[in-house]
Amino acid sequence: MSVLVTGGAGYIGSHTVRALRATDHAVVVLDTMELGHRAALLGAELVVGNIRDRALVTDLCRSHGVTQIVHFAAYKNVGESMEQPDRYWLNNVAGSVDLVEGALAAGVKEIVFSSSCSVNGTPTTMPVTEDAPISPESVYAETKAMVERILGWYGITHGVRAASLRYFNAAGASTDGVIGEDWTHSQNLIPLVMKATLGKRPPVRVFGSDYPTADGTCVRDYIHIEDLADAHVRALRYLRDGGDTVSLNVGSGVGSSVLDIIHATERISGQVVPYEVGPRRAGDPVVTYADPTKVHTTLGWSATRSLDEIIESAWRWHSTHLDGFAD
Ligand code: WQD
Repeated sequence: MSVLVTGGAGYIGSHTVRALRATDHAVVVLDTMELGHRAALLGAELVVGNIRDRALVTDLCRSHGVTQIVHFAAYKNVGESMEQPDRYWLNNVAGSVDLVEGALAAGVKEIVFSSSCSVNGTPTTMPVTEDAPISPESVYAETKAMVERILGWYGITHGVRAASLRYFNAAGASTDGVIGEDWTHSQNLIPLVMKATLGKRPPVRVFGSDYPTADGTCVRDYIHIEDLADAHVRALRYLRDGGDTVSLNVGSGVGSSVLDIIHATERISGQVVPYEVGPRRAGDPVVTYADPTKVHTTLGWSATRSLDEIIESAWRWHSTHLDGFAD
């Protein structure tokens, strides 16, 4: 019995692979290595290949005795998805269909899917519950919403059971500083703050300071990467125990502003964070944070690590890995 992790050499994938191996799961990773890092796998078995190759997926599932899948493999850059939508429809949506078909041919029907809070677009009520309207505002977000629905249909047609985890803002690095986020391609706030503080890029631009929030900057729900990895381990257990198809908001329920991140980084690093205030970024929700009730009742999961622990781990990782994984 083993778990196939697609996209396991990426940021969330690699932390999940590590958490699975620490809880005695046998793991095989399928990754194209277009954006993944071999070093992030810490020796876990890697098959370089594409989820679009159904025969490869079927062979892998059969040869490794795969019983469950965690499906991360996808492109995730919102801006890029608006410029090159075909890549997102094909890789994220068609790729998920190919993966499921390849897995079904080997009898695998349990899937944990890497979804996103962005399926709700700009939420109308706060905190965000799972029954908030599905209203994607980017091609990327639409691909996540579509795959959730496709998995639901595979439940009706083929008995697939899926847990779609809608991530809020994944952040930080492993507490022991061994793996973290390679900042080479990242456009997310925390790696950018770290990079600017370490003098590796120009000052961070704060996207708007005139929002109707306590300090005028946007509020998000930052979730420690190891807490997020643990949610996947629990979701696999839930499915193994017969759990039905479900979508869950994986967030802490706590909102932090852009300036909260900058001030915490200054306090923890002892450095000045160079930043400047710029205009608002189009499409940014003002405030978004999860209602974590359903994920708690379904998986027994809740965030255990604070914003300070997120920033401490990110600082430890980035200040010691100035070239990311350097591979
Ligand atoms: C965070 C905050 C920016 C960069 C992303 C994904 C989304 C979801 C969660 C998974 C915002 C501000 C940022 C900068 C800034 N998860 N910011 N200057 O947009 O909240 O959501 O993670 O799929 O789909 O898109 O994350 O890190 O870009 O921004 O002021 O240079 O930081 O305005 O308030 P976002 P982010």
